[in-house]
Amino acid sequence: MNTWIKVRNYIGEKKYRWIIKPILFKFDPEDVHDNFTFIGNFLGKYLITRKISNFFWNYSNPILEQNILGIKLKNPIGLSAGFDKNAKLTDIIPTVGFGFMEVGSITGEVCKGNPKPRLWRLKKSKSLAVYYGLVNEGCTTIAQKLKNKKFSIPVGISIAKTNCKETVDTQKAINDYSKAYKSFTDIGDYFTINISCPNAYGGEPFTDSIKLDALLQTIMSVPKNKPIFLKLSPDLNLKEIDEIIDVSVKWKIDGFICTNLTKNRNNVNIVDNIVPELGGLSGKAVSDLSTELIRYIYKKTGGHASKFIIIGSGGVFTAEDAYRKIKAGASLIQVLTGMIFEGPQVISSINLGLVELLKKDGYKNISEAIGKE
Ligand SMILES: Cc1cc2nc3c(=O)[nH]c(=O)nc-3n(C[C@H](O)[C@H](O)[C@H](O)COP(=O)(O)O)c2cc1C
Repeated sequence: MNTWIKVRNYIGEKKYRWIIKPILFKFDPEDVHDNFTFIGNFLGKYLITRKISNFFWNYSNPILEQNILGIKLKNPIGLSAGFDKNAKLTDIIPTVGFGFMEVGSITGEVCKGNPKPRLWRLKKSKSLAVYYGLVNEGCTTIAQKLKNKKFSIPVGISIAKTNCKETVDTQKAINDYSKAYKSFTDIGDYFTINISCPNAYGGEPFTDSIKLDALLQTIMSVPKNKPIFLKLSPDLNLKEIDEIIDVSVKWKIDGFICTNLTKNRNNVNIVDNIVPELGGLSGKAVSDLSTELIRYIYKKTGGHASKFIIIGSGGVFTAEDAYRKIKAGASLIQVLTGMIFEGPQVISSINLGLVELLKKDGYKNISEAIGKE
């Protein structure tokens, strides 16, 4: 079975690297992404196309299964927020081998995002410069579309504040988050509150603990029926992180996503000569920063996987990258840039590679490896 998956993925990888990627990378990245969303949405509609996709990309193994905060996951690799901004891919993504996915970020109002161009590839650095600014159809339209929909893998709802001048006012920003939150209380398996978009008007005000406290007070006034994660920036200083942890303990936040994009350009992993001034960086540029934050929070909160669940996000391209984050304290992993640079078969390659790494280290289930650095 594993030999067949390896051969399948090997062919898929070569095909993507030598044929598909050189063509795709000639076009504007946002156009490519929009076309993929259109095709993915179409392929997800039919049983036959879902089955074909399953055949080419899916993989499962009981050693990767976990039950986290009551959510059953067939594997620890999820799709990060930002790829399926308007929740159009919830039928096809499960067939690509992901164990869970996050849609959004979704804002209180319709959000056009920042002016184009707003997405660039840093090919040598295996990173993307992202300046979308939370473009999405808004909570009302997306919630209406997802109402009564059955998902075949757990789906997280990422919410953010609308990127506009009005939400610079703290109370208006809180109302905006709250509107998005309330729209999805009966939809999906967990919430992520994105407080770390580097591209929104007015910056990232809710990394300030007083403002975060006020935001969480409003969110928690609505009866909580699913886990809530906070998505953190990799550019926080230790004082800010400690204060966010304190507020999260107070409001019984379930965990953190470490991390969002970095704004920091002084980074040894950035090797391209030209780096756009605008936007946050994904991929290898954020990989180490994300792992360091996972490690810090895991240690700081008692090294207890059950205390705060950590989802590692940033620069995962291989099973080794994912395993490093799991050993630093992440229970789950999210991938976005890795899939764009390596192709969709990378998800099952990461999962298969994780199975081999776990067996080599003598673990019977992935949960045993969390934090075992
Ligand atoms: C094109 C793009 C759009 C993104 N949009 C969002 C978003 O809307 N909300 C969010 O929380 N993170 C967003 N992110 C950040 C990713 O979810 C992820 O945390 C980050 O890219 C690091 O993971 P990666 O290196 O695997 O891409 C976006 C990233 C990319 C590349």
